[in-house]
Amino acid sequence: MEKEKTLAMIKPDGFSGNYMDKIRKVILESGFDIIREMMVRLDAGKVTQFYAEHSKKSFFPSLVEYMTSGPVLIMVLEKPNAISDWRALIGPTDSRKAKVSHPNSIRAMCGLDSAKNCVHGSDSPQSAAREISFFFEDIVPGFVKHDEL
Ligand code: PPS
Repeated sequence: MEKEKTLAMIKPDGFSGNYMDKIRKVILESGFDIIREMMVRLDAGKVTQFYAEHSKKSFFPSLVEYMTSGPVLIMVLEKPNAISDWRALIGPTDSRKAKVSHPNSIRAMCGLDSAKNCVHGSDSPQSAAREISFFFEDIVPGFVKHDEL
């Protein structure tokens, strides 16, 4: 089966709560290769661009505030079926729900709610391609939208 890449991020609460080693262990034990990673402190402009699709949502200002509140670790993960497998591993957006319905998920392990949910994962091949090239310009994820062909 062909390998796929996805973008993963350990958000400020995952970083400050010292869950980094636990999350990396789960990633590697689940068969992902971490092919690139960088630690950054995002500014408001970068967060606004990255989460542009949510810019009209009422929670957007708090999302920007939270995502700029501390450093994050951004990773490119690779394995067959990486996009949906990483989403399954992190669990539902709201960590409170994750603790009930997906107790073994990463968001159940280290998140608090929908805002402080510890980790991010691309939700589709399109978003994986956009998000990977957003942070790692030299990586071409190999996905081309049909209307661009
Ligand atoms: S939606 O409305 O269903 O499309 O949004 P959702 O997928 O639930 O969330 C999109 C991202 O926004 C974050 N989020 C929040 N941030 C701050 N405050 C509140 N209330 C809030 N609700 C959702 C959520 O963590 C998602 O981030 P990512 O990084 O994509 O998981």
